[in-house]
Amino acid sequence: MLEIAVPQPGEAVEIVAFLNRAGGESSFLAFGAGGYVYTVEEQKTLIEDCRERGDGYMLNARIGEMLVANLYLFPLTHDFKSAEFGLCVAKSHWGRGIGTRMLAHVLAWASHRGLEEICIQVHPKNVAAQRLYARHGFAPAEEGDAESAMAMRLPTASRESLAGQA
Ligand SMILES: CC(C)(COP(=O)(O)OP(=O)(O)OC[C@H]1O[C@@H](n2cnc3c(N)ncnc32)[C@H](O)[C@@H]1OP(=O)(O)O)[C@@H](O)C(=O)NCCC(=O)NCCS
Repeated sequence: MLEIAVPQPGEAVEIVAFLNRAGGESSFLAFGAGGYVYTVEEQKTLIEDCRERGDGYMLNARIGEMLVANLYLFPLTHDFKSAEFGLCVAKSHWGRGIGTRMLAHVLAWASHRGLEEICIQVHPKNVAAQRLYARHGFAPAEEGDAESAMAMRLPTASRESLAGQA
């Protein structure tokens, strides 16, 4: 059974290992195999900041003990009205609705928290991600480097109607 939860600081090691591995499973992430941007200590701090200070929002998805997805939403503005997120599902578990469930969770949280806008950078060829986001109300934004990243945005107007879906 899939369980989605906010991670504890003790899960930092596993998250870093997961994302370093996942970087090699997709050509659509900003980092490659072993290239995840944070060290275990930094990841731990990130989790603590999310949990204690509300400086972001993080989710892990597990099937039993196995970590199969991670999502991290971080503020783009100091008031946290605008945010961006990164989402990664293990390749072994793509296409099983896990990304959809993670997104529903984060949108419910964002709605509750009063965020006005959520952005995501998507590779123009990442059809699965674009479909996932479009189905939840995200629309292409104008800015973005068309070759490597396409910005998608969930506008405020869509937020209320989406909150009930989570
Ligand atoms: C993109 C990603 C998050 C989707 O998560 P997922 O759990 O596989 O997605 P879901 O099973 O919930 O399906 C979401 C949508 O993608 C579609 N999809 C899934 N795999 C697909 C594939 N290989 N090709 C085309 N569409 C695909 C599904 O059909 C679904 O769309 P639909 O409901 O309109 O049919 C996941 O594939 C992933 O982590 N990929 C690598 C990293 C990445 O690209 N992250 C996103 C960066 S923006």
